[in-house]
Amino acid sequence: MTPRAYAPPALGEGIDLDLSKNEGPLSDSNLLEAGDGIGELVRRYPDTSDLRSRLAAMHGLSPNQLLLTAGGDDALFRCFLSRSGPDTTAVATRPTFEMIPIYADQTGIRLVEIDWRGGRFPVETFIGAASDADIAFVVSPNNPTGSVISEADLRRVASASRLVVLDAAYAEFADVDLTPVALSLGNVVVVRTLSKAYGLAGLRVGYLLGPSDLIGEIGSHGSPYPVSALSAAIALQRLNDPAHIGSTIGEIRAERVRFAATLSGFGVRSLPSQGNFVLLEHPAADLVAEGCAELGIGVRTFPDRPGLEDALRITMPGDPEHFSRLERTIATVLPRFASPPSRTVDLEEVPR
Ligand SMILES: Cc1ncc(COP(=O)(O)O)c(C=O)c1O
Repeated sequence: MTPRAYAPPALGEGIDLDLSKNEGPLSDSNLLEAGDGIGELVRRYPDTSDLRSRLAAMHGLSPNQLLLTAGGDDALFRCFLSRSGPDTTAVATRPTFEMIPIYADQTGIRLVEIDWRGGRFPVETFIGAASDADIAFVVSPNNPTGSVISEADLRRVASASRLVVLDAAYAEFADVDLTPVALSLGNVVVVRTLSKAYGLAGLRVGYLLGPSDLIGEIGSHGSPYPVSALSAAIALQRLNDPAHIGSTIGEIRAERVRFAATLSGFGVRSLPSQGNFVLLEHPAADLVAEGCAELGIGVRTFPDRPGLEDALRITMPGDPEHFSRLERTIATVLPRFASPPSRTVDLEEVPR
């Protein structure tokens, strides 16, 4: 049987502000300064050792505790590949990052899913399943809910599991970054990415952190050269601008609080989020998304994911102008769906 494949959601026509993919804000620095060296850079197979050392040092680790990967996606996939085999079981929450069930399917690993619809991490049920599993996946902040696991619960999960993968793709936006705690536990590896806070999703640079033996073992799965030479060069340049990154993170954290307040002013419930996005619930989620699209803003719905039919995920833009456009748009669209939700949309034009 053909395994499940990921199909990127289509962006509707006329959308010029895409807030559907949790990407980071635009960089204002010139990212293509490699200049004359580019010819030589692209002629050779990539040498990514500088980027590896630089990222490892950022986390106080040595390079052999870090595996560079083609985005966080590839880090997750290698974790699955490393455990694939007959009768292998993984455990994860539901909902969670959508590639986790897809990779389980592609690698023939049976996935046990534990419900976590926001609020506290379901530690007891998760541990119950994790103690029998070969590998456990915890995404915190979780996508699409934005919920987080506590340090105490992460410790309990680690002590009950063989191997834990903590997907911390959104760690920079959270109140607490659990990466150092996770790395002290011995059987936890941590997925990180430059796609979110660093605004470099197009480069496909991610990495896995962990004890050197686990990193070596997981790194022996998958293809060589996952990060291109150009991506590595641009990523290194971007890492030299930490001030810019810090300011956009602050902006996004403020936006998600203001946005939740705006939603609640319209009687719409959203989940407290520690990511760069907000998940809201609306009985006419599809029509609200359509309304936003008509005004040029792309947001994410999940019509095919059980339990998320009424959910809408909106990325915080990290940009004052785009944020105020988002607020104006939502203030135009939501009142159309006062209860009971109308099934027809007739939107006034709002200024872009
Ligand atoms: C929780 C989580 N992990 C990993 C990823 C993968 O990101 P990338 O492959 O761009 O690093 C994403 C992307 O949306 C995500 O939401």
